[in-house]
Amino acid sequence: MILPAFTPPGVLKVFSDLEALSRAAAALVVEQAKAALAARGRVLLALSGGGTPARTYELLGSPPLREAVAWERMHLFFGDERCVPPDDRRSNYRLVRERLVEQVSLPPEQVHAIFCLGDPEAAARGYEELLRRELGEGQPGFDMALLGLGADGHTASLFPGQEPPPEAWVVPVKRAQEEFFRVTLTPTVLNRTRLVVFLVSGPEKAQALKAVLEGGPVALPPPARLIRPAAGEVYWLADRPAAGLLTSVGLAEEGRRG
Ligand code: 6PG
Repeated sequence: MILPAFTPPGVLKVFSDLEALSRAAAALVVEQAKAALAARGRVLLALSGGGTPARTYELLGSPPLREAVAWERMHLFFGDERCVPPDDRRSNYRLVRERLVEQVSLPPEQVHAIFCLGDPEAAARGYEELLRRELGEGQPGFDMALLGLGADGHTASLFPGQEPPPEAWVVPVKRAQEEFFRVTLTPTVLNRTRLVVFLVSGPEKAQALKAVLEGGPVALPPPARLIRPAAGEVYWLADRPAAGLLTSVGLAEEGRRG
């Protein structure tokens, strides 16, 4: 595979459809969880919201994978959250609770949701304190993070043109077009992850994926391009429609590392 001058941030794997992509993502979670458990006795996993990872969470919460993970040693965190009630259909916590947490034996105190309905700024500070306690200050932090990609190149709630202060790990975010606030982890803490896995599905993501993996002129740099763990790896799991515009990176065959 001939890499372009612009070094793409990570390894690309292309799958025929979202189901195949989700099965690969779920298998990666199980694999990374076993490695973390063997090495450190617990697993620190940060999860994405949005629609793409829903099937991955369902697979992890169903046989056989449900039985393959020592859930009692797992700590779930969130890459971002919308500041809405926890049972709101837009809540990332609700997505993970329904598709995964309610299906497995995970101690509730190990599901670290971001509750930010009242005061997003205070919620961000509180979550950052939690992360500094749980992850510590050295390298690396999370064992794994699942992230999505927006059509504008955003990831978590890191949106183009809204650069968080470099020292912050968690910040509140407000978008003009949304009535609610969000709270998001920043590249500073996400780049302390051993393995970041982006899940990208659908033709509407093709332009953003091309901008992130192949560089090229864009109005506003895609924030997903900022996710480059200093001591970790990035896998991009894309289905064929999302990978449809990629050229110089080369399309990995399904299931084979790019
Ligand atoms: C969120 C997510 C966000 C998401 C992308 C892709 O809270 O909205 O964290 O970053 O991953 O917007 O969303 P889809 O998977 O629904 O396309």
